[in-house]
Amino acid sequence: MNKLATTFTGLQFENPFILASAPPTESKRKILKAFEAGWGGIVTKTIGLHPVENVAGPKTIYQRTSETKPYVSRLKRTDTVSHSSWNWELISDQPLDLWLPDLEEIKTTYPDRMVIASIMAGADSDKEMDNWSKLAIACVNVGCDAIELNMSCPHMDRKDMGANIANDEDIIRSVLKAVTSAVSVPIWVKLTPATSSLVDAARVAYESGASSISLCNTFPSLPLMDPETMKFEVEVDGLVTSGGLGGLAILHQALQRVSDISKAFPDKAISGIGGIRGFREAFNFIIHGAGNLQVCTAAMQEKGSGGVGIKLIQELKHDLNDYLERKEYSSIDEIRGIARQRVVEHSQVRRKSDAYNGGYVIAS
Ligand SMILES: Cc1cc2nc3c(=O)[nH]c(=O)nc-3n(C[C@H](O)[C@H](O)[C@H](O)COP(=O)(O)O)c2cc1C
Repeated sequence: MNKLATTFTGLQFENPFILASAPPTESKRKILKAFEAGWGGIVTKTIGLHPVENVAGPKTIYQRTSETKPYVSRLKRTDTVSHSSWNWELISDQPLDLWLPDLEEIKTTYPDRMVIASIMAGADSDKEMDNWSKLAIACVNVGCDAIELNMSCPHMDRKDMGANIANDEDIIRSVLKAVTSAVSVPIWVKLTPATSSLVDAARVAYESGASSISLCNTFPSLPLMDPETMKFEVEVDGLVTSGGLGGLAILHQALQRVSDISKAFPDKAISGIGGIRGFREAFNFIIHGAGNLQVCTAAMQEKGSGGVGIKLIQELKHDLNDYLERKEYSSIDEIRGIARQRVVEHSQVRRKSDAYNGGYVIAS
């Protein structure tokens, strides 16, 4: 019996690990390589209909830290460990008509693996709502198993795209209406962690027909400046913008977001993302309620894997399977969400004395 097999949003995954929407899933070549390596599914690099041109410099940097001099930097130093990725890459610059035959071939080659098409359009007109439908229909027609709506890219220029729309409940509703009325596959909604109204956004998405929330996209952040050169570690003509932090550095924050959603909607599906680079991180997402795990930075960083995490997926599968065997669980469903009841309000945690009343002044 395959203990790693899982059903998520009605789709059969041979294992719960999938590559997130990002460079590891930007081309047919990489996606086929990823499936050969054993990933249970992929979310394509986000596909859109609007023009895309990336900045004239590196799109992603990897930041490292060390025990001896524990500063974070992309500078090459000995004895360092990975801290995070930082990127300001836009969505796919490959047009839809080139994506479609590739997606069809991928699905024909690996019919048992799940292909989720990440899509993005604007939100400022009926035409843009049609673009969401158009993208979804096109991807489903070539065999994609689900659609992920990108409402979370933290560095879109257009104010009606990506994370810029994630606080707007009317827009979330309209986009879901446009997509759910166009296709009948599961719709995942990828939200930004950079909002104080995440639970409200998730509620609207679920109520409007989302099968799952994908959390988290990268956290809006700035790259560091080198005090010697006075240059940002990534810049073009001396300029930077807010970009996205990913990798191990965002793990704890991503877990908290997943926990918030999972506690508010315990019966709903969540795909967990943010800092997964081995079993222990994946385990933490599962116990907080994720039924599916997405990986980006750790796969991109694996040397010799072409940026698709060949050793990583083997290790993830081996270590999760080993854990389920040793603990005699039949699948991740038995541990999914078990931490939910143990994440409580601060006031519910026992104090050393009984006298503390939560910080309120008692009127005399
Ligand atoms: C270079 C780069 C490009 C990305 N592009 C996309 C994208 O096109 N669409 C999207 O939804 N997320 C995109 N992401 C975000 C990832 O899918 C993922 O949510 C994030 O990196 C957190 O996961 P991690 O900690 O495993 O890297 C990108 C991330 C990186 C590093």
